[in-house]
Amino acid sequence: MTTELKKGVFWVGAVDWGLRLFHGHELSTHRGSTYNSYLIVDKKVALVDAVWGPFTAELIENIKEIIDPAKIDIVVANHSESDHSGALPEVMRLAPNATLVVSKRGAESIEGHYHRNWKYTAMKTGDKLDLGANSLVFVEAPMLHWPDSMFTYLTGHNILMPNDAFGQHYATAFRFNDEVDQAELYEEALKYYANILTPFSAQVAAKIKDVLALNLPVDIIAPSHGVIWRKDPLQIVHRYQEWAAQKPEQSAVILYGTIWQGTRRMADAIGEGFAEAGVPYKIVDVAVSDRNDAITDIFRARTVVLGSSTMNQNVVPSIHPLLGEIKGLKFKNKIGAAFGCYGWSGESVKLLEEHLTASGIPVACPGLKCKWQPSAEELEACRKFGRALADATKKPGSPS
Ligand code: FEO
Repeated sequence: MTTELKKGVFWVGAVDWGLRLFHGHELSTHRGSTYNSYLIVDKKVALVDAVWGPFTAELIENIKEIIDPAKIDIVVANHSESDHSGALPEVMRLAPNATLVVSKRGAESIEGHYHRNWKYTAMKTGDKLDLGANSLVFVEAPMLHWPDSMFTYLTGHNILMPNDAFGQHYATAFRFNDEVDQAELYEEALKYYANILTPFSAQVAAKIKDVLALNLPVDIIAPSHGVIWRKDPLQIVHRYQEWAAQKPEQSAVILYGTIWQGTRRMADAIGEGFAEAGVPYKIVDVAVSDRNDAITDIFRARTVVLGSSTMNQNVVPSIHPLLGEIKGLKFKNKIGAAFGCYGWSGESVKLLEEHLTASGIPVACPGLKCKWQPSAEELEACRKFGRALADATKKPGSPS
């Protein structure tokens, strides 16, 4: 089923209600996703972005509802990742006269994925393609979130198609932002930003500034995932500006891995200390929690408290994937601390502190260790630790 955005501009993509893991198995998608593809019928016909390979038939069927695919003159591939390019071999087979329009880096990465002898035209920022009544204007957007990423803007209808930017993994019955649950929409938009765009926040802020400076009228922002922003479309741009600034809330997240519940009891007592000082917190048992949701919690919070029992002179294995993400996502403006139970050697707290420091998160209070199970006195020390961290959480300033 297709949806007309404006006269002659159609959504022809696919809704993937069943998707629960994305990027292989690396990103959870509790609410599915969509692969948005846009067909523009002017004197020339352009298709902007395709869909993931398994949804090729749906894309082609949607295009055929509007026009014979052989009439497509231009196929824009704003980004070469497979969720947008997987259907390209079939699209290019059915549209043998089409030129494949890419960024300079896109020429290299599309070729690297598909090894086909397609007719490429590489665009740089400000380049224009005349379609007839309206034109496509291209803006390179490197590292939002791949080197090849590009935005396409349709003049006349004032539609910005920024590919992954401003997207959400959110399968819905309707295509527009004013037709869906706003809390769900923003939960998914934030999760998308936190998990995918955080390390590129400087580029996000700079690119938004560049695009706003062009003073292009924007009636619609049509990303490549999730709903299309037609009601107050700049709301998501302003939200991205806030997220790119990485100014966390005055809150904490306590993430722990435990073996026999001692570290969990420490986590609860530390949380009580935060609450006594009036700082909201969440506790996440990393072994049984969704890693990507935990990352969203970390993105929002000022203070990241990591806990682990010691196992084999190390942290528990279940916390390793999260530690890797914390380092790779390069969070800013956070403080941290570590805690954990141990039986004999007790290395985990020191290792967690070293990891926080290596991740650019300064340690705000020296770590807390308990041998075997925490005693009543040690649980009181955990509450004190929580209160001290709460005070540090409330202090203004940016330690990193
Ligand atoms: Fe939606 Fe970077 O692919």
